[in-house]
Amino acid sequence: MTGETNLEERRAALEAIANEIRQCEQCPLYSARTNAVPGVGRVDADIMFIGEAPGYHEDQQGLPFVGASGKYLGELLSLIGLSRTDVFITNVVKCRPPGNRDPLPAEIDTCVPAYLQRQIDIIRPKLVATLGRFSMALFFDKNARISKIHGQPRRADGRIYYPLFHPAAVLRNPNLRPVMEQDIKRMLDLIKEIEKGGIEDEPPPPKQLSLF
Ligand code: URA
Repeated sequence: MTGETNLEERRAALEAIANEIRQCEQCPLYSARTNAVPGVGRVDADIMFIGEAPGYHEDQQGLPFVGASGKYLGELLSLIGLSRTDVFITNVVKCRPPGNRDPLPAEIDTCVPAYLQRQIDIIRPKLVATLGRFSMALFFDKNARISKIHGQPRRADGRIYYPLFHPAAVLRNPNLRPVMEQDIKRMLDLIKEIEKGGIEDEPPPPKQLSLF
């Protein structure tokens, strides 16, 4: 089988998932959506960005990060010479929570194995950049605080997980801009590390010695 055929198969598999998402009624979010938002970008992207959930504009257009946060994400990508078409962009949940409320645990627990996990398995990104705490919580310690661990890569599953602030949080708090931009620029070094080959999984953190 040639690489191209394989790429075609992966593209078809990703599109099949997108169609499932557009018809999904597995959680109550479907009833209020205008459009589901499966995600957009390259099937063979090295970098995958995972946000939280579609907002108003994303729900209207069926595309992720097309509002103010998306415009800023585009600016951040341009800092490292990339554009939206070079990466894959999606969200933890694929339908807009009413009034932009936080996605509920049951919605996340339904949507992630049904769709996000399968998208990751097909795209096989070398670097997964999480945008905001909901996405971060899927791959990092649930109690971790984004203000503490942003910009600190974790190597696991043969790839790098990289926690970033959510662009909307940075737009709300301009003091975070230099921090966010530094974190994004550091991705260049991480990508070089990946390209040199071999991402070794980190050993799990040492078990705390019992004092008793
Ligand atoms: N915020 C998100 O988390 N995702 C989007 O797609 C848009 C805004």
